[in-house]
Amino acid sequence: MSQILKVRTTKQFKNRIQYGYLWLFSNEIDKKDLPKEIACVEVYDSKDNFLCTGVYNPYSLISLRVISRNKEESFNKYFFKRKIIESLNRRIQYGFDERYCRIIYGESDFLPGVVIDRYDNIIAIQFFSYAMELFMNVIIDSVVEIFSPDTIVIRNDIHQRRLEHAPEYKKIVYSKNSNKNNITTIIEHLGAKFLVDVYNGQKTGFYYDQLDNRKYIASLVRNKSVLDLCCYTGGFSIISSLNGASNITGVDSSSTAIHLAKENAKLNKTKVEFIEADVEDFVSNSKKKYDLIIFDPPSYARTNQDVKNAEKKYYSMCNKIIKLLNSEGIFAFSVCSRFISQQKIEQIIQSCLLKNKLKGFILYRGIQSLDHPVYLPMKQETEYLKFIVVQVYKS
Ligand SMILES: C[S@@+](CC[C@H](N)C(=O)[O-])C[C@H]1O[C@@H](n2cnc3c(N)ncnc32)[C@H](O)[C@@H]1O
Repeated sequence: MSQILKVRTTKQFKNRIQYGYLWLFSNEIDKKDLPKEIACVEVYDSKDNFLCTGVYNPYSLISLRVISRNKEESFNKYFFKRKIIESLNRRIQYGFDERYCRIIYGESDFLPGVVIDRYDNIIAIQFFSYAMELFMNVIIDSVVEIFSPDTIVIRNDIHQRRLEHAPEYKKIVYSKNSNKNNITTIIEHLGAKFLVDVYNGQKTGFYYDQLDNRKYIASLVRNKSVLDLCCYTGGFSIISSLNGASNITGVDSSSTAIHLAKENAKLNKTKVEFIEADVEDFVSNSKKKYDLIIFDPPSYARTNQDVKNAEKKYYSMCNKIIKLLNSEGIFAFSVCSRFISQQKIEQIIQSCLLKNKLKGFILYRGIQSLDHPVYLPMKQETEYLKFIVVQVYKS
């Protein structure tokens, strides 16, 4: 890496960084020191004391992400290998099957803005931070040395990169067998098998983050009729089926997701009815009632500005969905947005129950699984998934 630039910051940031916060915003850095392009920079206080090294992006509101507080650090393969192995060891310590989980979850694993998902021999890498791409090659080399994968896919086709003024693209950057690009594989998850398309699938192919919530749902479903709304490739449906649900319907608007979901049902020798439909149309026209309904829509609030409209949309959908519950039915609602609090979600459900003259008990509150750890100095920034399960009774 060429010579590292030096920039200066405010006292406020100095305090925050000492508590482990990893972001520096554009107004927290002395404008006259600013580089014009993405760069690796050293940050100093007004008295010239070294604070940290970070990656800087002049086009992003999150101007700088901290990568080290050790001045002597070299950002070579050994540095990145150490970070990845430390994260991998945390997954093993938490009881994950290291072949099938998220290995790096950005800030929470001290590689800010970087995601690494492992699907056994296929690895997907995402750069939410444009500036971390400065280290793309050395990160790829580290991944090859640690995991010896068949294929590495860069999945930078993510809308969040617009906030970084970064191009959106995906590509295969490594293949052990240069004639054959492996992009699909079968993973094991809670005793089920899932086909994952790492190149074309949503996220990087699979929603690993619902592991604990799926486990909880599995404990409830025996002999119940289950409706899985926004089922994607059948995560909740297949697990419900393997855990004794009496019948299951999965609904999603994506034809490719429904195709894979049907393949997953075959793979697990289980019976699920998968329907390609818009969830709102389906719910508005359904005549059938269910014992347990899971609703896991895409994020309606991607930014703070979206929150008001998102809350209205969640309310309107939940209001329709709870009408499809049998007596003493169970409603599981998942919200994927760091801008919407658990408290807000509970208020939404409560309002729906009141409107329909129903009452409910909270059975379970969940978040994303531990391979997407919530990093406490940055709870708001790293906790994005909220999951609530409510049993509904007539008033
Ligand atoms: C968060 S993912 C669901 C993940 C899934 N529950 C799982 O466990 O793998 C959201 C899903 O909603 C689907 N979706 C988005 N808009 C939809 C709509 N209007 N109607 C039905 N499905 C929709 C997407 O295709 C995506 O599969």
